[in-house]
Amino acid sequence: MTNLFQKISLKEYNTFGIDVEALYSFFCYDEKDLISFLRQNKIKKSDICVIGGGSNILPVKNINDILVLMRNKGIKIIEENKNDVFVKVEAGEIWDDFVDWCVRKEFWGTENLSSIPGTVGAAPVQNIGAYGAEVKNVIYKVNTVDTRNGKTESFRNEQCDFGYRNSFFKSEEGKNFIVTSVIFKLSKNPEPDLSYGSLKNKFPDNKAKIEEIRKAVTEIRKSKLPDPKILPNAGSFFKNPVISEAKFTKLRKKFPGLVYYPAEDGKIKLAAGQLIDLCGWKGKQENGAGVHDKQALVIVNYGNADGNTILEFSKKIQQSVYDKFGVLIEREVRVLP
Ligand code: EPU
Repeated sequence: MTNLFQKISLKEYNTFGIDVEALYSFFCYDEKDLISFLRQNKIKKSDICVIGGGSNILPVKNINDILVLMRNKGIKIIEENKNDVFVKVEAGEIWDDFVDWCVRKEFWGTENLSSIPGTVGAAPVQNIGAYGAEVKNVIYKVNTVDTRNGKTESFRNEQCDFGYRNSFFKSEEGKNFIVTSVIFKLSKNPEPDLSYGSLKNKFPDNKAKIEEIRKAVTEIRKSKLPDPKILPNAGSFFKNPVISEAKFTKLRKKFPGLVYYPAEDGKIKLAAGQLIDLCGWKGKQENGAGVHDKQALVIVNYGNADGNTILEFSKKIQQSVYDKFGVLIEREVRVLP
């Protein structure tokens, strides 16, 4: 089969631009090929590593597992009624191409998630979110293949255990499944969500056309987030930390300007970018790795940093945030292997 390659460089397949080698790489252009590959070869979960757009990973050394790169394409309406439309999208579609398709058709639900890098298959795994929206709100079903036996299995939204940047597919059991396509439920009726601060400012009368929201989100992202093609990065490097209300009350006495949002179970979510910023990291560089000068949550590769250099740099940031605020900021980016 020509889908399987030996010893290829991953430099082009991760947005940090890290040059490590993968021993075996399987390019999946069709779910059927993936199924027969899994059935022919007795593969264990630990032998497999799946990537989509490579926009949320940090490779630190050569990968001896089988790297599966999802490249299957297709967007298809499978059902519709007066109010809703159900769209099946193959995992290898570029997420933002799909958002663009939705906006052109005026199908509501993905517009606030405009310009997020990566593929459709990766979207449910980390429940991508931005500007008040999360992809879980438009996911109807996630179709997968079980790496243990090559069998297909579908998960309804409520079976996916979605949380902030989290899902069943990140759990030990969930890692056995490769997402091959996603079925979205989108609304035909205008449902603008302009609740997020920066969108509220742009649309003070709480009205906007779908294409105006896409344009606004794209502009806000461009003004804050570096383009990985120009300055390699993987978006937010850390998750926003969630802490107890009691801890927050104490912290706020010392740092009254802290940005915060209500989170699940009465907890409080802080802005990791602000914490890193307050530690003085914004715009700092070390050994080719740096903190972006417009959004401190983003670590950038100025050209020559390898994966370990970036990882070590990120640990220093974690430690300094912990020393100042007593809060642990967890990585959002997945370190490979
Ligand atoms: N802030 C600072 N300094 C900074 C960065 C942020 O003070 O250097 C403050 C901002 O002023 C703002 C607050 O922190 O008051 C939050 O900043 P922002 O609106 O930029 O959002 P975020 O919480 O830092 C999250 C997502 C982003 C997403 C934005 C917009 C995570 C880990 N990140 O960032 O997602 O685009 O909200 O909704 O939840 C990504 O996941 O890769 C990503 C870019």
